[in-house]
Amino acid sequence: MLRSTFRLAGKKCSQTFDLSPLRHAASTWTSTTAIKFKEYGDPAKVLYQTTEPLPATLDPGNVALRFLASPVNPNDINMVQGIYIVKPPLPAVCGNEGVAEVIGVGSAVKNVKIGDWVIPSINAFGTWQTHAVAPATDILKIEADLPLIQAATVAINPCSAFRMLYDYTSLEEGDVIVQNGANSAVGQAVIQIAAHNKWRTINIIRDRPNKAETVKQLADLGATHVITDADFKNRDVIKQLPLAHLGLNCVGGKAVSDMTKLLQDRATLVTYGGMSMQPMIIPTGAMIFKDLIFCGFWLGKWNMENSTEERIEMLNNVVRLMKEKVLRPPTIEPVLLKDFQTAVKRAQEGFTGAKQVLALDEESLAKIQEEVRAYAQA
Ligand SMILES: NC(=O)c1ccc[n+]([C@@H]2O[C@H](COP(=O)([O-])OP(=O)(O)OC[C@H]3O[C@@H](n4cnc5c(N)ncnc54)[C@H](OP(=O)(O)O)[C@@H]3O)[C@@H](O)[C@H]2O)c1
Repeated sequence: MLRSTFRLAGKKCSQTFDLSPLRHAASTWTSTTAIKFKEYGDPAKVLYQTTEPLPATLDPGNVALRFLASPVNPNDINMVQGIYIVKPPLPAVCGNEGVAEVIGVGSAVKNVKIGDWVIPSINAFGTWQTHAVAPATDILKIEADLPLIQAATVAINPCSAFRMLYDYTSLEEGDVIVQNGANSAVGQAVIQIAAHNKWRTINIIRDRPNKAETVKQLADLGATHVITDADFKNRDVIKQLPLAHLGLNCVGGKAVSDMTKLLQDRATLVTYGGMSMQPMIIPTGAMIFKDLIFCGFWLGKWNMENSTEERIEMLNNVVRLMKEKVLRPPTIEPVLLKDFQTAVKRAQEGFTGAKQVLALDEESLAKIQEEVRAYAQA
């Protein structure tokens, strides 16, 4: 439950929002309505909606799932475009991340039961669909008392932030992290985990008309400094900032060259995304005189190289941070599955300030909208 106090017509009011999980009655899985693609290309052109039958009886090791909510992440868009490392056999259902309720289990399934909430444990699961029948080994159970928005977005972005903050350097209180794409879902998680540990953050966003709004949003999450890419033209602004021990780059291009100005000697710069679609520009002087360490991170690889137990431990750590209210979910815009083209277009626009989340039915949409209102007022 989330209690929120606000003013209505000058009067102080308070309201309690129910953030408890959806509890569906037993459902059936005769068919699934899915967003698929049978060729790689422009998502606006190649994605289509289809309804297809599902097997009525379950093999012993299979589960039946009812998806509740699935985000539209940059890797989903890149996968459809055919420029992502993961290329599923076509035709494929789109979507790498999402949360589903278990609505049926085969006779040999031990890891989940009906009513559990689960997330995919494999890449390219195909989460943009209402139902699925899949091997129980392809899913992981998560706690069902998370808000739906957090459950739908827990698997990729906060886990990536968590790994990059803990695996590449040993940060101490007061140490500094610099990141670009700081208003992304990963960036928001980085800010919150860092603030919780008393690590300072320098957060670089793209210059924008509503800059003050974004700066306030990130400051409210615990950002120490928020600057724009345009500030790198002003030496005085940059000179006032502390130098960072760790850099996190999801933009590429000139943004990397800018970031090296804020890295201290022997700092590590981890690249995990390339939103600008430009090759990284690394100044030779920064390499030689600062002796910087450049490396990359991909959660998909980490998941493949580590055991299920280690992955569950990471998820439990992130879920604990969510429950302790260290981590708020990213700002989102919920969209019904049938309006997937609107969501996909918005996700590619830039400067929207919100992640698109597909609600897989009207009930999930209502729940997500209620959570969005509660978070806005909390
Ligand atoms: N390697 C991994 O394991 C891993 C894991 C998770 C995420 N990622 C990557 O991390 C990045 C962020 O993902 P997310 O889901 O957190 O993002 P998101 O919430 O969907 O936000 C997108 C971010 O990209 C920025 N952006 C969009 N177009 C851009 C452009 N042309 N140049 C510079 N910035 C641009 C947006 O800034 P504006 O507001 O200015 O548009 C926003 O900060 C993506 O590249 C994603 O693929 C990688």
